[in-house]
Amino acid sequence: MSNFLPPSVQVWIPEIIQLFYLLATGVFIVGIKRLGSPATARSGNQLAALGMLIGVIVTLFDQQILSFEFIIAGIVIGSAIGAFAAKKVEMTAMPEMVAIFNGFGGGASALVAWGEFSRAAPAAFGIQDLVTIGLSILIGSITFTGSFIAFGKLKGFISGNPVTFPGQNIFNLLLTLCTFGLVGWFAVDPNAQIAFWLIFGIALLLGVLTVMPIGGADMPVVISLLNSYSGLAAAMAGFVINNNLLIISGALVGAAGLILTNIMCKAMNRTLTNVLFGAFGGSNSTTGSPAADTDRTVRETTPEDVALQCAYADKVIITPGYGLAVAQAQHVLKEVADKLEARGVEVKYGIHPVAGRMPGHMNVLLAEADVPYDQLYDMEQINPEFKSTDVVLIIGANDVVNPAAKTETGSPIYGMPILNVDEADRTIIFKRSLSPGFAGIDNELFYRESNQMFFGDAKDSLQKLSQALNDV
Ligand code: TAP
Repeated sequence: MSNFLPPSVQVWIPEIIQLFYLLATGVFIVGIKRLGSPATARSGNQLAALGMLIGVIVTLFDQQILSFEFIIAGIVIGSAIGAFAAKKVEMTAMPEMVAIFNGFGGGASALVAWGEFSRAAPAAFGIQDLVTIGLSILIGSITFTGSFIAFGKLKGFISGNPVTFPGQNIFNLLLTLCTFGLVGWFAVDPNAQIAFWLIFGIALLLGVLTVMPIGGADMPVVISLLNSYSGLAAAMAGFVINNNLLIISGALVGAAGLILTNIMCKAMNRTLTNVLFGAFGGSNSTTGSPAADTDRTVRETTPEDVALQCAYADKVIITPGYGLAVAQAQHVLKEVADKLEARGVEVKYGIHPVAGRMPGHMNVLLAEADVPYDQLYDMEQINPEFKSTDVVLIIGANDVVNPAAKTETGSPIYGMPILNVDEADRTIIFKRSLSPGFAGIDNELFYRESNQMFFGDAKDSLQKLSQALNDV
């Protein structure tokens, strides 16, 4: 690029490049901040994409890596693949897509470090460079294979059950210590090719061995953690190639992934150690299998009855869950809510932080159906309101409304904060059967006097309800 510019401008190029990096960093930070609210999330995403575009273009020019034609061709092909994937992927498959992105991110960081190391004689690198190269390869490779195993588990290509063997945790711990030892060896003796390749090989193996023992249902937490790893790997790669933007954006991703992992664990009342080493969550929900407890009775309701109860209620709270996403019932749910509001019923949505299978799952679904943001309430905000609510419509949610979390000390979800729907006058659960949700446990709410079951696919049932509301 410098050849096109007058010499008086050329001397400023390094500063101009750093200024653009600073600009991209600022855009990333504002973008992430805006992702914090549904109202601003869309523009936050676009801003962050703009930051990435600035970063890519400036880096390519700065390093004189490619000619104009290649930059443009790369942007066009990459954008086309990205746009196709974004349009094509189902909302429920978003964790899989993020897993793939993380995997490629980790793999790319490892390759950047490898590429940099191959560019010069080993003796040209200082100990600090070698440590960062080793760590970048280590973390990047773990992220690469770990993410693809997570993807395979979610997709069902690999068994979702925890795959364990005796002494596995100790074995993994020893392997991890071994890789740190190898990074140390490589740092003091960069000519030790064997150490370099062992770091690569063992790290790839560790990615597989650390994710295989985790149940498929815990994959979203693991993916969030791997997201954090991919950020760390990118930051390390940034140190390797001396790129400030990569260091900062990697650190941002690393921190954001860790915060998200922590939020998810807290909302499930699990520790990260329990997720990683507890071999929990093998059973997956939504099989539509028959009732777990056939001795107790449940009250089944009809669309007409639900329509009557809702139409004459003062306040209705809707609590959506994973089943709403599976049924893709968000638009017809909005239609029902609109009809109720037109009759003067106060309608609110109570959103549990881990409802669905990924953070913000319900918010995104409801935003897609143009549900006003001010009708969405977090668990802490909505919980005090259930006591004064006539009807709660529980749409495809199960664990996040299960009172066992409050009362049954032996339950796997004991201590998990839930939506206190059981405090409302009446609850109506929309689901296909009495089968359990993600945690694989029966829900005592099904059998309560104040509860009615509206069996069927959520979209189907809501369509029937919408129809019935016309006749009330
Ligand atoms: P779940 O407890 O998984 O229950 C979902 C329910 O939806 C199932 O019981 C299923 O019952 C029903 N369902 C499935 N397809 C349906 C359809 N087409 N129509 C109607 N109902 C349908 O969901 P939840 O209450 O949202 O709880 C989320 C769970 O996932 C929590 O245990 C949470 O810890 C876990 N988790 C969440 C995350 C994040 S970040 N969100 C991450 C990891 C784990 P039927 O089969 O009877 O229809």
